[in-house]
Amino acid sequence: MTSSKMAAAATSVSTDDLAQFILNTLDRDGAIASSADLRFQGQQVENQALHGALTSLERREMITYETIEFDKWVLTAEGADIEANGSHEAKVFNAIPADGLAIGDLGKKVGAESAKIGQGKAFKNKWIGKGKDGKLVRLVATIRDVTQEDLATIKKTHAHSDAKVLAELKKRKLCDKEKVTHYRVAKGTHFSTVIVKQATDLTVDMLLSGSWQNLDFKKYNFDALGQEPSGGHLHPLMKVREEFRQIFFEMGFEEMPTNRYVESSFWNFDALFQPQQHPARDMHDTFFLKNPATSNRFPKACMEQVKQVHSTGGFGSIGYGYDWKEEEAEKLLLRTHTTAVSSNMLYKLAHQEGGFTPAKYFSIDRVFRNETVDATHLAEFHQVEGVIADVGLTLGDLIGFINVFCQKMGVTNIRFKPAYNPYTEPSMEIFSYHQGLGKWVEIGNSGMFRPEMLGPLGLPDNVRVIAWGLSLERPTMIKYGIDNIRELLGHKCDLEMIQKNPICRLDKKMGREN
Ligand code: PHE
Repeated sequence: MTSSKMAAAATSVSTDDLAQFILNTLDRDGAIASSADLRFQGQQVENQALHGALTSLERREMITYETIEFDKWVLTAEGADIEANGSHEAKVFNAIPADGLAIGDLGKKVGAESAKIGQGKAFKNKWIGKGKDGKLVRLVATIRDVTQEDLATIKKTHAHSDAKVLAELKKRKLCDKEKVTHYRVAKGTHFSTVIVKQATDLTVDMLLSGSWQNLDFKKYNFDALGQEPSGGHLHPLMKVREEFRQIFFEMGFEEMPTNRYVESSFWNFDALFQPQQHPARDMHDTFFLKNPATSNRFPKACMEQVKQVHSTGGFGSIGYGYDWKEEEAEKLLLRTHTTAVSSNMLYKLAHQEGGFTPAKYFSIDRVFRNETVDATHLAEFHQVEGVIADVGLTLGDLIGFINVFCQKMGVTNIRFKPAYNPYTEPSMEIFSYHQGLGKWVEIGNSGMFRPEMLGPLGLPDNVRVIAWGLSLERPTMIKYGIDNIRELLGHKCDLEMIQKNPICRLDKKMGREN
């Protein structure tokens, strides 16, 4: 049989039948000491099929098994011939009659090969010698063909007690070593001779009828290799993000580390001079964490200053005049804006070795708000944020920066409208004229961070910080002509949309105009 035919024969054994056979054998014999002794449908079972059945039973804890590996010695074709017909030296000995044999005739009697190899060995063994007339003569009456005996032992037991003999016979290419695997099988904690079909899906019916409680569910195989993807596609949001990142880099900004979705209320609200009773801190607007619910890992000296500025004022402010509580600041949440990262970064900037130096930071990442989901709102979205800290910056600088930034995005028609944020003064909403909609749409928010925020963070008095925030979704939806945000993000998002949408090219007007 060719090896491919053997493989076909092996796979024709059904894993289910084999598994049942293993269980029946265990039930009858208690254990299987070595799978080498198993005969299924009159045949030795191929290891691959056996392994498949064993692992599936083991996963259900119906059995346990161990792999036993050992060397198996087998005869080569030449070794098998010697085992059957005797060694070359024995053939030579047997070919010599009582009155001797002319050397020239040996080859004719035993063949050229045996004559060549066997003669020397027979001489060495002192079985034969040379007579006076030059003929070959026997020196002993009988011989023991040890090579043949050793090979017979190996043929029968696939082993030999003398390692030197094995090494010698292997060197003579009369036998060789093969690796074999057997399995030792025992009953498992859920042993039974009945294989219950396992459920692979939890269905609505099962939940409604309660039948799931009595079902045996197939365990997930986390080691299974998934199908390799043939290629990848960037989500449109990531394409636009990449363009925005390039604009920031062009303008000399550094990217802030935004890899922390969970923040303490301290960085998200308190450090931003957002009072603890502010409605945004309500559960209806913010996702708070249950486990762990709190963390007090923020700098205590800074916290004391924040507490003071909220409750009694400072840095030229009268504060809010309420009883600020640390417990409130410790509450963990999913950050509601990337300004939580900016406040933390500004604290680090003020406390870096050598003290404050001017900085330009940006971030583009995900934020979370407990909002009712509709065509234009999701409970999570992405913010684009730019922050510049330097001595003596003005509102004019902020307007200028936003204008340049928006022009680089291809948005030229910009207007600002006064707004309110607890942490900025003045604050401005950013509007852009939308050709398609024929009206001004809000694209972002901005402002100059208040002294009540910058002081407790440790920034020098004369340092001003200007900042702006945009959503990533809005420009992406405009760019890709998507009008329902649920088509862009979340479970309703069509994968084909991601695969087929074009690369993002922002119409960068700046380069051409200047
Ligand atoms: N954090 C603001 C928001 O979530 C955006 C903003 C950033 C406003 C920086 C002013 C300064 O809308």
